[in-house]
Amino acid sequence: MSFRIQPTAPARPNRCQLFGPGSRPAIFEKMAASAADVINLDLEDSVAPSDKDSARANIITAISDIDWGSKTLSVRINGLDTPYWYKDVVDLLEQAGDRLDQIMIPKVGCAGDIYAVDALVTAIETAKGRAKKITFEVIIESAAGIAHVEEIAASPRMAAMSLGAADFAASMGMQTTGIGGTQENYYMLREGQKYWSDPWHWAQTAIVAACRTHGVLPVDGPFGDFSDDEGFRAQARRSTTLGMVGKWAIHPKQVAIANEVFTPSDEAVAEAREILAAMEEAKAKGEGATVYKGRLVDIASIKQAEVIVRQSEMIAG
Ligand code: COA
Ligand code: MG
Repeated sequence: MSFRIQPTAPARPNRCQLFGPGSRPAIFEKMAASAADVINLDLEDSVAPSDKDSARANIITAISDIDWGSKTLSVRINGLDTPYWYKDVVDLLEQAGDRLDQIMIPKVGCAGDIYAVDALVTAIETAKGRAKKITFEVIIESAAGIAHVEEIAASPRMAAMSLGAADFAASMGMQTTGIGGTQENYYMLREGQKYWSDPWHWAQTAIVAACRTHGVLPVDGPFGDFSDDEGFRAQARRSTTLGMVGKWAIHPKQVAIANEVFTPSDEAVAEAREILAAMEEAKAKGEGATVYKGRLVDIASIKQAEVIVRQSEMIAG
């Protein structure tokens, strides 16, 4: 480890973030009753321009009126290049009750974007004497966002960061209309056989590295084809293997799959505990490395196993 210690990310379950348009208040109760750890009420791209004001009002009412249980409650505001975002922040902070936990800022391109929202939020929190400090989550969904991902992760109030595949693809000029998952033209060819590769991999790992450096939760964003459960599951499994803690659901049927994939399995936890036990035994004998099921485990294996055990305990607790 460097002399600078890696900070831990917020210890909260974030396996699934369920989205719903602010212009569709009929589904808010269903969202609250879902098994998602995080609720994202949307003011941005699922809300038509003509509905922005009414959606904002719906959300402000629902934040106080609905029992959101122990979920993290977040509202996605409009982007900083729109005429809506300042009113989103001002009205939410001035009028919505204390239950609001987090604001999601879409399409962030640099740390200055976070600075601007932080200045506004801080002023309103102070003026209103709001007891609970709002945290921020952001979406990396542009070329600028991924180019400046580390300074964004290092910004104040940051709790979570998601990859937004659709806007990201558009900003990068990627030739696809798919939202996450396997892309038909992204393959390696060997002896006439196609082997699919993952076009989202680089952005995901860049996000994970920035988040882990600065104690922020890395999250995989939407998977658009909600009829394709196995495609969603495969994408989620790749994300958890890379270090992401959860994934968005843009339809309620995706929630259970995300919860399953991002909860370490009983088998994985049992194996991690066995590795820790094997290393305890090794340590007692004055050894730094030993053999577990025919393979090397050493002091680094303790840290790997602890990631799985800690995640499992945090979710259970
Ligand atoms: N959260 C909770 N419940 C939802 C829901 C959501 N996001 N979306 C739909 N439902 C409910 C429906 O009301 C319906 O309930 P019912 O069985 O009591 O009638 C049930 O789930 C099945 O819905 P279905 O008919 O399959 O979907 P739909 O056509 O009503 O809506 C979408 C499909 C994709 C338009 C909708 O899920 C949606 O708006 N998703 C979120 C989009 C969003 O927020 N995008 C921004 C982030 S990318
Ligand atoms: Mg987007």
